Amino acid sequence: MARLAGKTAIVTGGASGIGESSVCLFADHGANVVIADLDAAKGQALARSLGKAGLFVQTDVSSSEQVQRLVAKTVEAFGRVDIMFNNAGVVLDGQPIIDFSEDAFDRTIAINLKGVFLGMKYAIREMISSGGGSVINTASIAGVLGYAGQCAYGASKGGVLQLSRHVATEVAAYGIRVNCICPGGVLTPLVFARRPGVAESEIAEQFANANPMRRAGLPIDIAHAALWLASDESTFVTGQTVTVDGGRTTSVYRGPSPDLLSSADPAADGRSADHLAPGKKDLR
Ligand SMILES: NC(=O)c1ccc[n+]([C@@H]2O[C@H](COP(=O)([O-])OP(=O)(O)OC[C@H]3O[C@@H](n4cnc5c(N)ncnc54)[C@H](O)[C@@H]3O)[C@@H](O)[C@H]2O)c1
Repeated sequence: MARLAGKTAIVTGGASGIGESSVCLFADHGANVVIADLDAAKGQALARSLGKAGLFVQTDVSSSEQVQRLVAKTVEAFGRVDIMFNNAGVVLDGQPIIDFSEDAFDRTIAINLKGVFLGMKYAIREMISSGGGSVINTASIAGVLGYAGQCAYGASKGGVLQLSRHVATEVAAYGIRVNCICPGGVLTPLVFARRPGVAESEIAEQFANANPMRRAGLPIDIAHAALWLASDESTFVTGQTVTVDGGRTTSVYRGPSPDLLSSADPAADGRSADHLAPGKKDLR
C-alpha cells in the first residue's frame, strides 16, 4: 500500500544514513521526495535513482537563504510541501566542556538546532497555505541523556525536542503536526566517521551491547518511524517523541549477562541473583 501517495516530502540530510533510507522508503510509498544535503554527488545520484519523483537541492540547513530556496524549489517542482523531515545533523569536536571549542559549539547549534528552526519556519509557511502537513524532526537520545564529550550535540538535540513541542502547539490549528524521532545507536556513516580505524562490526557489537534488544539500530528502523509520522496513520499525533533505540533509554540494562541469557530467573537454578542488584548488600 502506498502510504504517501500524492504527497511531497523534503528530507534534509537526505543523501546519507537515516535520511537516505527515509528518502527511499518515502519514494517507495508514492511520495515525491526532495533531497536536501551538502553532499551534491550522493544527493544527485540518489535523486536520479528516483526518476521523476526525485529532486536534489544542495542546501546548507544553517543558511536561511538556502532553506528558503529549498522550499521554493520544492514548490516550483511539485506544487506543495506535505512532509518536512528536518534530519540533517552533525557531531563535532567531542571534548570535555573545558576544552570544547566555541566554533564547534556554534556550528553544532547552527546545523542541528537552527537548521530545524529554519526548516520549520519556511516549510510551515507553505503548509499553512496548502492546508496542513507533517513535520518530523530528528533529535537523539543524547537530547535526553548525558554523554561525556557531547555537550553541544546534546544541547542541540534537547533544543530540538523542546522547539518541536512549542511549534506543535502553535500550528496544530492549521492541521500541521510536529513530532520528533529520537534515534539511539544507529549504524550510519556519521558514527563510523567518529571512530576511525574501528571495524564497523565492532561498532555494531558495541551498540548491540548497549540495549536490551541486543542489536544495533539500522537506518531503516528510523525510516519506518518517520514513514508513520509522515503518513495519515498518525493524524492525531502531535508534539510527541518517538524513541527508536532498542529500549536503551527505558531500561537499566547493563549489558548481556550469561545468567539472564540462560534463565529468566537466575535463582531458579541455584545461582545467586545478587549481581543483578549492585549495592544491595550495603543497604541491609
Ligand atoms: N546514527 C545515530 O546513531 C544517530 C543517533 C541519534 C541521532 N542521530 C541523528 O540522525 C540524523 C541523521 O544522522 P545519520 O546518522 O544518518 O548521519 P549521516 O552522516 O549518515 O547523515 C547526515 C547527513 O546530513 C548531511 N549534512 C550535514 N551537515 C549538513 C548541513 N549543514 N546541511 C545539510 N546537510 C547536512 C550530511 O552531508 C549527511 O548526508 C542526525 O540529525 C543525527 O544527529 C543519529
